[in-house]
Order: sequence, then C-alpha cells, then structure tokens
Amino acid sequence: MRPAVLVARKVFPQVVERLREHFDVEVNEEERVWSHEELIARLRGKQGVYLTPTNRIDAAVLEACPGLKVVANMAVGYNNLDVPACSARGVLCTNTPDVLTETTADFGIALLLATARRMAEAERFLRSGQWSNWSFDMMMGRDVHGTTLGVLGMGRIGQAIARRAAHGFRMQVIYHNRSRLAPEIEVSLNARYVGKEELLRESDHLMLVLPYSPASHHAVGAAELAQMKRSATLINIARGGIVDDAALAEALRERRIAAAGLDVFEGEPAVHPGLLDVPNVVLTPHIASATVRTRLAMANLAADNLIAALGCGPRAGQPPS
Ligand code: DGY
Repeated sequence: MRPAVLVARKVFPQVVERLREHFDVEVNEEERVWSHEELIARLRGKQGVYLTPTNRIDAAVLEACPGLKVVANMAVGYNNLDVPACSARGVLCTNTPDVLTETTADFGIALLLATARRMAEAERFLRSGQWSNWSFDMMMGRDVHGTTLGVLGMGRIGQAIARRAAHGFRMQVIYHNRSRLAPEIEVSLNARYVGKEELLRESDHLMLVLPYSPASHHAVGAAELAQMKRSATLINIARGGIVDDAALAEALRERRIAAAGLDVFEGEPAVHPGLLDVPNVVLTPHIASATVRTRLAMANLAADNLIAALGCGPRAGQPPS
C-alpha cells in the first residue's frame, strides 16, 4: 500500500504531482493556515507530512498521530518542530539547507542597504507628495561600504553575507558564533571572531543570522540595544523572537539606534504596533528566500526528503544539522 502524506500548505503544483507519483496525497488547497487542531485532524492515519514554517509539530501532534514517520519541513529553520520529541518517537525530521543560502544572503544585503540608506522612508516620502525640491540634507543615511559589519550567527548564510560584505563592500567583518570558523575561512571572509559584547559595541551594522532556540530567545533585547552605537543599524533575517520587538520599537523611537530592517517578527504575521509607528524601520513579510528559483528548489528538496525518508526514492533523508 502507498504511504499517505499530508501537504499542510499549498505549494507548487508540479511538486505535489511528484509527491502523487509516490504517495496518497491530501493537500491543503486553502489560502489560510490550518489551525493546530485542524492539522492534527488531517494528519491522523498519515505517515508523512510536508510542512512549512506556518505549522508546528509538537508532542500533541505526535501523541494524536502515532503512525507519523517523517516530517519534511520546507525551510532551513526548524524551530516549528519539536525535534527532541520527534526523535524520542522515531519520527525523522528533514529541512532544506543550502539551496536558499545565496538568495537569503542577497536579501540580507538588500535589507541592510535599504535600511542604512532609508529607501523605504524615502519612497513613502516621494509617494505622499512631500518631495518639493532637492536639498543637501534630505534623507541622509549611513554608509555601508567601508564600515564594520557584525554578524551574529556565522553558519552558511552568515558566511555568504560576510563574503558579500568583505569582497563587494570592503567592510570589516566581525562575528560571534557558538564556534569559531577555521582560520583559512576567517582569512577568506576578512572576518574576526569577537565576544558578543564587542560585537554589539563595534558594529556599524549588526546582522542577525542565528537559528532560533530557547537559548537565542531575545538574544537582542533592551540591554543589548543599549550597548550598540547610536548610529548603528540592526538587521534581522533570522527568526522572530531572537529580537525583543517591544524593546527594539522603543529603542528606534528614542533613536538609541539609528534604524532597523526586519524580515521576521515575534508572533508573525502580527507585527508589534510600536514597529509600525516609527519611520526608521524597514519591514518585510518573511521573504528572504522568496525568489522563484529558490522557493522551487526548497519545495523540491523537501519533496526529495519525504520520498527518500519514506523509503520510496534513492536519496537519503536529510536530518537537521
Ligand atoms: C527558512 O527556510 O527557514 C526561511 O526562513 C523560510 O521560512
């Protein structure tokens, strides 16, 4: 008998077709995210689930769906999965690293430029008819080239950003990470390992690229913001919850840092109202990996993982690293 799998969010039709070659597939064809209860109800009796970061797999799901064997997450981040609970029940979790690294790094740099050079603010200014003349001090921002970029979390995406910063923008790169990079990689990225305090103190622009976990919850809160330069920008393309959004909104309002660029939010799609109220923040709706090519690659990799892990294909499943 063919395994039964659930595709919990709408995804590229050609990817669903691939899954149908191997499995009995039920797809969420709705535009909305199913509630946790709906997910559980649909998942009963299925062996696999194709998931996006909008749904979570936790002990309640595992308890209600004892036949579940594989969770294929279409994302590199997997903070929506209770991996220890899955492992304890022998449920294999897979994610989609590598295929989104360069695209996400491009976006990190784009958001940094947009933030430092006040692009969203300038566009709002122009569209609202406020531009009456050129003036010497209109929309002055901060330089990116030749400044110091701090990278918190130096995994694949952090390194791809550091490479762009060092070689494209002649930035000095400093970074903090759980472990230090090999010396030859540090040299190739022009990157210097520093403690977290020095990173906060010395960065002209601080880029957050670390995974979310209880250990990284509010890694940047009021105390950390207070240590940053008043001229600094903060960019979060990692996960909501790494930044204390309420503390950030306050720091931006009081100009304790210059500006922020945020692609991810605590409790998204809700956005802290204080962030919507201040002009010196660029807000995007979790789109760092959203190019046609990369989203298709992520979707296909998640399908490959599900096919391989349920024993239907040649590739090995790819457990989160
Ligand atoms: C990821 O892959 O983790 C991105 O944030 C998309 O959700």
